[in-house]
Amino acid sequence: MSNLLTQAIARESVSRRPLWIMRQAGRYLPEYRKLRTRYSFKELSRNPELATTVTLQPIERFPLDAAIIFADIMSPIPALGVDFEFNPGPEIAEPIRTLAAVKALHDPDPEEVAPEVIAALKLTQKELPKETALLGFCGAPWTLAAYLVEGRGKNGFPKLRALARTEPKILHLLLERLSKLMARYLIRQAEAGADAVQIFDSWAGLLSRSDWEQLVRPHLEAMLDTVGKSNVRRILFLQNAPHLVEAYATLPTDVLAVDWRENLPNLQAKYGDRIAFQGNIDPAILIGGAEPTRTATLELLRQVKATGHIVNLGHGILPDTPIESVQALVEVVHDES
Ligand code: CP3
Repeated sequence: MSNLLTQAIARESVSRRPLWIMRQAGRYLPEYRKLRTRYSFKELSRNPELATTVTLQPIERFPLDAAIIFADIMSPIPALGVDFEFNPGPEIAEPIRTLAAVKALHDPDPEEVAPEVIAALKLTQKELPKETALLGFCGAPWTLAAYLVEGRGKNGFPKLRALARTEPKILHLLLERLSKLMARYLIRQAEAGADAVQIFDSWAGLLSRSDWEQLVRPHLEAMLDTVGKSNVRRILFLQNAPHLVEAYATLPTDVLAVDWRENLPNLQAKYGDRIAFQGNIDPAILIGGAEPTRTATLELLRQVKATGHIVNLGHGILPDTPIESVQALVEVVHDES
């Protein structure tokens, strides 16, 4: 279906740029915090009706151009037979660090992979205004492997980086498994109604460029290729990885989403005839209030060409963001037309 988001992804000319916000359903919203007093994050994300309610919360408050399904990058992981909790980030009961552990992972049927997310996508699509796009998502193989190997979100992920050097074969095998699983999962999300999918490679930047080329690129590329061959629109997000941005810009993706460290006009000039871009206001600026948000958004719109640009933050919105800042962001983007 055609909407501002899919038009921008196709680099068609748009009446105005589309806007959505990473982590738009979450703790900065009073209505989300209220629900969280009754339900844990696990309960919310594993119940399709509740996940649909939370997905729609930001859309009911702001005229955003896309809804991202309320789930987590870890949602498909139980299907591999891996136990974990949120505390508040993912904590794996038994981290995967041996060949035996990788080989012991289940090989689930497609229907067994996060069925609650597929159900929530179908429910959400029915409720969503028709001009609002629906986004599915997954974690990139490397970012998922980071949690599975390290066991939790630890600064720099040292056990992961050690394994990458000492036992690259184990990681290759794990990344290959995750790459195949995620490709199928994304295609199923599109079949369930997602107009596009975002692949979150939040921990892309941990390896050197040459280690990344050898260990990560083949698996990420294979996943993106498989998804693209099914005509599913891909948004690839990387974070805190200035040394890899140019490599990511040449991967098979429709959109590259970057954080605030990156110079979008330069990237557009170099790669804008091939891919679209998403981003990249620093989420911390929104903490400063409506005025700095307005200024930063105006600056972004002035510097970045409208065609092939999806406005977003450079990373997830922070929990203590004032609602007025989000309002200001929406107003400036809407005023451009
Ligand atoms: O964007 C959205 O609105 C959809 C929901 C969404 C969540 N997680 C919900 C969530 C998305 C897209 C994610 C992706 C995700 N999860 C990423 C990639 C994006 C990024 O931030 O880099 C990563 C690395 C995770 C892993 C994860 N899950 C962490 C680190 C945490 C804890 C801290 C945090 O950032 O909130 C979670 C739990 C989680 N996932 C919460 C939410 C709303 C917090 C649960 C709560 O306490 O209410």
